[in-house]
Amino acid sequence: MSALVLFGGGGDLAMRMLLPSLYFLEYDRRLPDGLKIIAAARKDESRDAYVARVRDSVQSRADGHWDEEAFARLEARLDYVAVDATNAESLKPLKDRIGEITALTYFLAVSPSLYSSIVRGLKAAGLTGPGARIVLEKPVGRDLASFREIDEAVGHAFTEEQIFRIDHYLGKETVQNLIALRFGNTIFEPLWNNLTIDHVQITVGETVGVGDRWPYYDEYGALRDMLQNHMLQLLCLVAMEPPSNLDPDSVRNEKVKVLRSLRAVTPEDVGRVTVRGQYRAGEIDGKPVAAYEFERGQPSDTETFVAIRADIDNWRWAGVPFFMRTGKRLPEKRTEIVIQFKPIPHSIFENDAHSAADHGGAVQANRMIIELQPEEDISLTVMNKRPGLDQRMRLQPIQMSLSWGVGGKDAKPPRRRVAYERLLLDAMAGDSTLFVRRDEAEQAWKWVDEVSEAWAGAAFRPKEYTAGTWGPPEADLLLSRTGRAWNTRDA
Ligand code: BG6
Repeated sequence: MSALVLFGGGGDLAMRMLLPSLYFLEYDRRLPDGLKIIAAARKDESRDAYVARVRDSVQSRADGHWDEEAFARLEARLDYVAVDATNAESLKPLKDRIGEITALTYFLAVSPSLYSSIVRGLKAAGLTGPGARIVLEKPVGRDLASFREIDEAVGHAFTEEQIFRIDHYLGKETVQNLIALRFGNTIFEPLWNNLTIDHVQITVGETVGVGDRWPYYDEYGALRDMLQNHMLQLLCLVAMEPPSNLDPDSVRNEKVKVLRSLRAVTPEDVGRVTVRGQYRAGEIDGKPVAAYEFERGQPSDTETFVAIRADIDNWRWAGVPFFMRTGKRLPEKRTEIVIQFKPIPHSIFENDAHSAADHGGAVQANRMIIELQPEEDISLTVMNKRPGLDQRMRLQPIQMSLSWGVGGKDAKPPRRRVAYERLLLDAMAGDSTLFVRRDEAEQAWKWVDEVSEAWAGAAFRPKEYTAGTWGPPEADLLLSRTGRAWNTRDA
């Protein structure tokens, strides 16, 4: 027998992500036999009322995969217990539910300000034995100092091997496919360096605004909400050296080396290598949307957009900038990593104005796009001869898909998984390869703290951008100053 205890089991993350993930795992019969799922939350709610809420939420996300029988199996595992996590005494009913089970996974889907007291309570109640594991949802802390404070409190009850700091981006299928692509093939690795690659772009664009989440968001902003974790993790996977195997420490040793090699953003450089933005009213998909300040109810200095040029000071990446941008209320929900290869050193093809206008003559540099959202795909743009009898050879770029889509004419897209599915299974199985180790999180905070301190020192306020655009014009300048441009859909 084992148990998964969801603190914050009635909250937004649990309802939108964790319970649908558990449902899908149940649907695919991937949950461990005998697993109990205990939702622990403050609300005094009956089990039946809770199960009804879970059903509504899961059904709305089931996307053509709703199956009464699978939900009945999930329901049979579910239990609900009202606890005040800040009060060790109130953990008694939870302890009763757990009974003799020692294979325990706690998932803290609550505000990080509660992490320390929950852990203290669990320890005092004798619920932190060697068979227990704890999953911490981001953000753990708001800067390096607060991260360390929380981490130390957690460290009093759990060893590093028992702590699973989750970053759901690492559970995304395409992110893992990036590891397969880099280290399961010989053809890319020799090219994966500053001799062949011009620069890398990482874009995480969202159309949603901050809305009701402002009490959390206003304290964090895009830098801490997205860049410190999701985007730096993507950067690490692109930039790391080949690990000697997929053991948790081998992979994380390589990632932390990348983080240590990030060039610090100094107060002198901050205006040149970073852009902060905040959306004002605009339109998304033809509908008017409000300004962040309006949602917040008063003016705010929090950024809802950030773009940064990161430089990795090591042999492989010297001279290859990594440009990252993320924001709310951008024109598209799009997450992608673009590996931009260098242009050919000399063109033997005539480049006449007529053909260049329709891309028929200009030789475009190769580009690999690792798309995480809205589609999951890895594609490579290569130049090809345009068929025909033209006297002058005319070229055209073609985009080749390198993922499942080319697996044969009958290949069907696999079901799109919620990133938490894989991570929940891994945490319960004790595999921490796709989780963030303490030193990784520390290095990421250290780099991000330097940026936020430089912003504060220079009174670097966010620039306005109209909702529905790709951030302030300075974000384009960040690249165009170096003769480059962000990838656009029709490029
Ligand atoms: C979360 C952030 O970690 O990731 C949110 O807190 C953001 O602000 C979300 O919207 C984006 O995740 P995804 O998987 O939709 O790209």
